Amino acid sequence: MRQKLIAGNWKMNGTREMAKNLCGALESQNAVEVVICPPATLIRECFGFSPSSVKVGGQDCHESSEGAFTGSISAGMLRDAGAEYVILGHSERRAQFGESDTLIMKKLEASHKEGLKVILCVGETLEEREEGQTLNVVSRQLSMLPPCVNSENTVIAYEPVWAIGTGKVASLEQIAEVHAAIRSQVGEKTRILYGGSVKADNAVEILSLVDVDGALVGGASLKADSFNAIIKAATQVSLQAKAA
Ligand code: PGA
Repeated sequence: MRQKLIAGNWKMNGTREMAKNLCGALESQNAVEVVICPPATLIRECFGFSPSSVKVGGQDCHESSEGAFTGSISAGMLRDAGAEYVILGHSERRAQFGESDTLIMKKLEASHKEGLKVILCVGETLEEREEGQTLNVVSRQLSMLPPCVNSENTVIAYEPVWAIGTGKVASLEQIAEVHAAIRSQVGEKTRILYGGSVKADNAVEILSLVDVDGALVGGASLKADSFNAIIKAATQVSLQAKAA
């Protein structure tokens, strides 16, 4: 059985004060794996204040291990700061920083080399969905996975771009369709998260879908109350599935 994973993507938000308060209020749950991905400046801080079962991750890394790349952070540096995970290929990186599938795969290889687990984001824009291209886009984004990828070191996050930060969550049918397609591509063991306007009040129904193994949460991960509620929802769904 795949363990549910709830990951919080803080994006470019957070101060030391906020990290201390939020991480101190997180409730650890054994049934569910919890990861928070703060800005890199706060990784050590989060590490110190979170319950020990909560893992910390970065939001991106450079594809090289070191060198003259002003402003960038390598996978090894994230690991050195205490990160266990890194988010790669987030649609904001693809759209705002022009990241290609080729570059993302280089970052993924660099991360695995340093022992970081990767949360690899895929997903279609609204235009691509309206053109009926969703499954093609997602399949293309997953088509170049290098041989280092396995179900232990890589998690896929399906995030329809039009659902991110918009409050417009994808329908259960849309999520189920894309997750089933990703499942056929990556196999039974790899975890597939859904991301895009996941909140406390829609978490149970989304997390109950057969191929949904957790959530990548943006806005609702910035407050302990809403993030804890999503962790609780995942715990409830996991325990019910175990009992069934
Ligand atoms: P959201 O962001 O939950 O605020 O929609 C999700 C993400 O960007 O990973």
